[in-house]
Amino acid sequence: MVNNLTQKIQNLSIKEQLEFLAKEFKDRIAFSISFGQEDQVLTDIIFKNNISIEVFTLDTGRIFEETYKVWNITNKKYNKKITAYFPDKDEVEKMVKEKGIYSFYDSIENRKECCNIRKVYPLTRALKNVDLWITGLRAEQSVTRTDLALLEENKTFNVIKFNPLTKWTLQNVLDYLKVNNVPYNELHDKGFLSIGCAPCTRAVKEGEDIRAGRWWWESKDKKECGLHIDSNLETRNSKITSKKINI
Ligand code: ADX
Ligand code: SF4
Repeated sequence: MVNNLTQKIQNLSIKEQLEFLAKEFKDRIAFSISFGQEDQVLTDIIFKNNISIEVFTLDTGRIFEETYKVWNITNKKYNKKITAYFPDKDEVEKMVKEKGIYSFYDSIENRKECCNIRKVYPLTRALKNVDLWITGLRAEQSVTRTDLALLEENKTFNVIKFNPLTKWTLQNVLDYLKVNNVPYNELHDKGFLSIGCAPCTRAVKEGEDIRAGRWWWESKDKKECGLHIDSNLETRNSKITSKKINI
């Protein structure tokens, strides 16, 4: 099915791809945003053209104030609704009580636990009734993303994942934002190329890798929080097995 879909859309513009998929996956298509510069490109295309796609963010509780600001500006500019998913309060309370407020610096295991509770499990909830998941991923962002396809099957969340910007360079993204006067996170002007949670993101120096500022204390090949690893991660929510997709 992924091959079939790819053939149908690969020569269309991103706007046309999104419109086509919004029709094919009516009410079961969603775009996840962290308000990073790539996401702002796609948000602009979706909102400006009134494409019927659910737009949602995962608010981990640890994001930057600057991210809330661009969230607010985006809401106002397009006058559209953005859904926020929050972590389960009991899980956060238990983790913080048992391991402290900075547990993620202590070990990779703790870091993954925090990412699971604050990001991955809420994403599972967000994708519960979704068959087509759109992201702002680009292949050149990381060694873990070089094989990124336009469309791919994602077994972890049992969805088809659509990455319209997979072949875009950072310069393509910056040009789009400028030409179209799209609001972006002011941290990008302060050396933050990729932005996640505040305690786990720092600015990068010129010449450093795009994601060097994410979980900077970990090695390059481990820098994924679980949102984009198609593994057998236990999502605890055995939702999806009955989902049926007709193309
Ligand atoms: S991450 O896995 O390392 O955090 P990254 O910041 O590169 O991901 O963002 C890649 C894509 O993942 C974004 O374009 C967006 O689609 C999705 N994403 C990342 N973080 C969030 C978030 N907090 N809420 C919603 N989507 C997110
Ligand atoms: Fe927790 Fe850091 Fe992961 Fe955010 S990025 S969920 S604070 S470990």
